[in-house]
Amino acid sequence: MKNILIEGKRLRLRKADESDLKYILNLEYAPENLKFIVPFDEKFHTEIIKSDNSEKMDVIIEEISTGNRAGYFMLQSLDSHEVEWTHVIVEKKGLGYGKESFKLLMKWCFEVKKFHRGWLDCKDYNEVAIKLYESSGMVREGLLRDTLLTNGIYENLIVFGILDKEYFQLNK
Ligand SMILES: CC(C)(COP(=O)(O)OP(=O)(O)OC[C@H]1O[C@@H](n2cnc3c(N)ncnc32)[C@H](O)[C@@H]1OP(=O)(O)O)[C@@H](O)C(=O)NCCC(=O)NCCS
Repeated sequence: MKNILIEGKRLRLRKADESDLKYILNLEYAPENLKFIVPFDEKFHTEIIKSDNSEKMDVIIEEISTGNRAGYFMLQSLDSHEVEWTHVIVEKKGLGYGKESFKLLMKWCFEVKKFHRGWLDCKDYNEVAIKLYESSGMVREGLLRDTLLTNGIYENLIVFGILDKEYFQLNK
């Protein structure tokens, strides 16, 4: 399989290619995901996929047993000491795939790519995502108040972060 970043027990992460574009857009615009994220368009994702991925990368979560796609991450600031995880979307929810794939993502970022810090933001009422990030060892670093304007309503974002030393302490 091409472009594999890392493999776990049930899942692997691989770089997205052009054949994944429709899948990524369908996931982003599915109502159950859209309410929790800010989606991008086809042009934006095409540029990422066609780029050398030195700054941004679209990543597909794939089931090892079936080869089927199971979700999507977007990574940003790959040319910096800190990586931003901007989209975390699992298609088959509630099976532990979020936890397993996020663990793989952190493993690749800290053990392979040697980032100093990983971070993301999350709507303050997104209970499942908050559970996922806290149980993965991320720390609440702050609250951006009324920072998003969604359909006329201001929303708060929680900033979560994890440092390399915290990751290695949890995973020794
Ligand atoms: C958030 C998301 C990635 C989590 O992936 P998932 O595979 O559904 O989650 P998991 O099965 O790995 O469970 C993660 C945690 O949430 C809990 N959980 C899962 N489904 C739940 C539910 N319906 N209600 C309450 N808790 C739930 C699990 O028990 C687990 O808790 P723990 O870590 O304390 O043990 C996924 O639900 C998703 O794609 N949501 C929509 C998009 C989104 O919100 N993305 C995040 C943007 S910041």
